[in-house]
Amino acid sequence: MSASTGLIAPHGGVLVNRFVSQERYETTLALARTLPSLPLTPRQISDLEIIAIGAASPLTGFLNQNDYQAVLHSMRLANGLPWTLPLTLPISQQQAKALASSQKATLTTQDGQPLAILHVQDIYPYDKRQEAQAIYKTTDEAHPGVAILYVQPELYVGGEVEVLTLPPHTDFPEYYLTPAQTRAIFAQKGWRSVVGFQTRNPVHRAHEYLQKVALEMVDGLLLHPLVGETKGDDIPAAVRMRCYQVLLENYYPLERTLLAVNPASMRYAGPREAVFHALLRKNYGCTHFIVGRDHAGVGNYYGTYEAQEIFDAFSAEEIGIVPLKFEHSFWCKRCGSMASSKTCPHPSEVHVTLSGTKVREMLRAGQLPPVEFTRPEVAQVLIEAMRANS
Ligand code: ADX
Repeated sequence: MSASTGLIAPHGGVLVNRFVSQERYETTLALARTLPSLPLTPRQISDLEIIAIGAASPLTGFLNQNDYQAVLHSMRLANGLPWTLPLTLPISQQQAKALASSQKATLTTQDGQPLAILHVQDIYPYDKRQEAQAIYKTTDEAHPGVAILYVQPELYVGGEVEVLTLPPHTDFPEYYLTPAQTRAIFAQKGWRSVVGFQTRNPVHRAHEYLQKVALEMVDGLLLHPLVGETKGDDIPAAVRMRCYQVLLENYYPLERTLLAVNPASMRYAGPREAVFHALLRKNYGCTHFIVGRDHAGVGNYYGTYEAQEIFDAFSAEEIGIVPLKFEHSFWCKRCGSMASSKTCPHPSEVHVTLSGTKVREMLRAGQLPPVEFTRPEVAQVLIEAMRANS
């Protein structure tokens, strides 16, 4: 807890900010123009962004070999702090040669715009299958996170970054709040406890239920959709943002709710990603974090509640943010309310549950799913988006 603001301390104690100061901007940019360049993919740019703005505190750059090995084998950084996903920067042998003499590189967009200077600490080989097994619990290339790992270059370069700029966000820019900004808002609103909600989907009734049950116990809700890259069949972020807006306007207490976005990309690493998601939200100032069923999962790679169980590997103090664990939730016709496998005694035949495929089929046909599953205003946004896309 920070004594001055009453807010939860960031992970590792200090909120990182890796942007160069105004005074050093011109000289840093001039230096950037002279260094070997490393063009970043959109995923790597979103990693750079979460490092730059302090969402990934205490990281100040891409992982060096010691931290990488510690994350893989013990879910911690080399200094023992819990950290579950490796934020690494893959490079080829050829790029490594270019860096060997300069010890610095300029991270750029694909078309060469300088974004940051990387102070090279080490360049090291890694074993893709070992990383896949440790992080994703599978070596199957059908897993979307593993697929990306398998096609990336063979070496990692570790080191701190000094960020000049990030590519501008043209879609919904007003929702890109940094951890410093969400913290300032929480302090100004006087929220002592805030629950963070991660999602990569439109908010359906089950999601809404979890958020509102949590909100009964805390001061505020940070609805914090992830808007970095997701897999191709997930609903685009711009469409989801319209869903969140209509939902909030119609069903949420606005004085207790803040909608902002998380620029990270999805890895679909299930349990390890749940801890990562929680630590990010702690940096944004949340005291609590919702972990439901199959959090950040994909296919059948993880057990339904594995993303909750993984928190047992850490003490409450070292994680800091409190995971709020929810069972599978649904509308029960006999209860006449939302419920979960923990609170409802009735058989599944009286539960309203729909598969993602079934919902997509209905929306594509212009049909509203039952109100017990999705709010009609949200369904309407999705139907319109599908029409515009067809
Ligand atoms: S995720 O990849 O971001 O986890 P999603 O947006 O579907 O996917 O889920 C957001 C959060 O809601 C996660 O914590 C997930 O576990 C939880 N969740 C989603 N649907 C349900 C449900 N029906 N019952 C309980 N928890 C759920």
